[in-house]
Amino acid sequence: CGIVGYVGRQKASAIILEGLKRLEYRGYDSAGVCVLQGRQLEVVKKAGRVETLVKEAARHQLTGTTGIGHTRWATHGGVTDANAHPHVSSDGKFALIHNGVIENYAQMRAFLSTKGYTFHSETDTEVLCNLIAYHYAKEPMEQNGHSRFLESVRKTLRHVEGTYGIAALCVDFPGEIVAAREASPLILGVGDGEYILASDASALISRTQNVVYLKDGELVHLTPASFSITTRDQSDVSPVVDKITWSITDASKGDYAHFMEKEIFEQPAALENAMRGRFAADGSTAQFGGLNVTASEFRHIDRLMFCACGTAWHACLVTEHLIERFARLPVEVDYASEFRYRNTPLGSNTLFFVMSQSGETIDTLAALREAKRKGHRVLAISNVVGSSIAREADGGIYQHVGPEIGVASTKAFTSQLLIGAMMALYLARMRDMSFTDGVQFANALKAAPDLVRRVLDQAPNIREIAKRYAQSTDMLFLGRLSLFPLALEGALKLKEISYIHAEGYPAAEMKHGPIALISERCPSVFFAPAGEIFNKIVSSMQEIKARKGAVIAITTEGMQLPAGLANDVIEIPACHEAVLPIVAAIPIQLLSYYIAVERGCDVDKPRNLAKSVTVE
Ligand code: G6P
Repeated sequence: CGIVGYVGRQKASAIILEGLKRLEYRGYDSAGVCVLQGRQLEVVKKAGRVETLVKEAARHQLTGTTGIGHTRWATHGGVTDANAHPHVSSDGKFALIHNGVIENYAQMRAFLSTKGYTFHSETDTEVLCNLIAYHYAKEPMEQNGHSRFLESVRKTLRHVEGTYGIAALCVDFPGEIVAAREASPLILGVGDGEYILASDASALISRTQNVVYLKDGELVHLTPASFSITTRDQSDVSPVVDKITWSITDASKGDYAHFMEKEIFEQPAALENAMRGRFAADGSTAQFGGLNVTASEFRHIDRLMFCACGTAWHACLVTEHLIERFARLPVEVDYASEFRYRNTPLGSNTLFFVMSQSGETIDTLAALREAKRKGHRVLAISNVVGSSIAREADGGIYQHVGPEIGVASTKAFTSQLLIGAMMALYLARMRDMSFTDGVQFANALKAAPDLVRRVLDQAPNIREIAKRYAQSTDMLFLGRLSLFPLALEGALKLKEISYIHAEGYPAAEMKHGPIALISERCPSVFFAPAGEIFNKIVSSMQEIKARKGAVIAITTEGMQLPAGLANDVIEIPACHEAVLPIVAAIPIQLLSYYIAVERGCDVDKPRNLAKSVTVE
């Protein structure tokens, strides 16, 4: 979900709606806005896209200069106008927007009902809003100079179990917002005579690059002239103002039809950015500035564990393959959501990593906290500077690929693969890899952007292939070794954005089940790169072909497939093993993108998904 708040001299609704459009990738079931006009709360909210809200808002006179807005990814309660945020307390005094989940809301709702509060939605947010109103009504007018508005929010939050990023308006305090966070992102933009609150920097970057990243347990109080930050237990916090290094153009589509398309084509530059300054002077190994782990500590590691969700989990699987293959260290990869409850044994020499593009995925954050609770040092690979995961980790590596807006991850994925490969190089060079092999490995990584460019040049051809398969009902993605995770990623990409059922499998394992799906309407995408097991992969293709399944082969330039075996062939340039997954990612991204476009799907906002899942 996305949050925006505005306090300043401009018309709040225009700035909030603009921010909501930029946040829509965070959730797009419904959206709403509330502005304070004098002592009146004007609320407009609608199920559906932000565009629907914009049209509806145009029919109202929203002239106030203080307001809040929200775009929702439903958790409690269906997708209806009533369940959309903002919610207003039953006494009409407060409006509230909320990301996250309040776990003890049922008790609170029962309690508030006995006190005469009424509810119009099924959401936990409305309960929270009424609880603020309840505490406000009980609160003395002034508390040693503390604002009654602020204190009633603070009191409420002391009774809440769960996660939240919230922003509230109160009719008695025109020009003010009180906001707070607990395990859900919230950033304050400090503009010129104005403040903008947002759950994500892309909603405020058009107005300011100066931001304060709020921390868990903090509340921020905005008035037209100033802001102050305090904790839930009422201590003052000295704010640190950071500068965002990217700009509004990085978060705009430019001439591309979709963000996903733009981000696919941005990958050569993104890879350059992810490796800049990260090779040692002798050219034989990688170096990372922010790991906070000494070389000798690294030398004592005997195992690594990676936790992540979604596409980042696939990147971890490739990293596992490369670290085991080149550094000969055992690696375990787990879904963050499983790890947090699985009670995995972690040896004291296990190095623990989490990987998360957004740095806000709640399951990944929980896995990080669980490992830290067990006394482990935790490192993070993330793209978002100042994100919760980046901040809570003991050290880490930023991806530096700029904002990724398309819900289906592309440039973040390949940069994670690159960083994983660099980590494998670094660990390998501390063990058995020679100087010469290290230089060769590093040079191969440096060449990756050019190789990716060469695959991108084939986009028109891949688009034609996509058209031929766009009406498939199912699709298999098959690969082996480091490309098995790419098969998983291909299937995920396709189902996310085109709604075609797809499965990724190790190519040889396909005959133990998925082969039953093969039909004329279920083609198989095979990764068949040059290498020791090329012939084995060809045999698996034959098994598909014998059952009348179409075969799309992604193979290395110059490799000869038996005549008539593949219906379509996409060639990738020959490359080092460490670069192969990066290069192989491009055809599956383009294939799923063009299939989704062909089917008329909303590529950047696929149904039911959200870019960053900040609820469990
Ligand atoms: C969501 C997104 C995926 C992403 C996953 C993990 O499910 O739709 O594209 O891979 O979250 O996100 P993270 O930000 O932690 O990498």
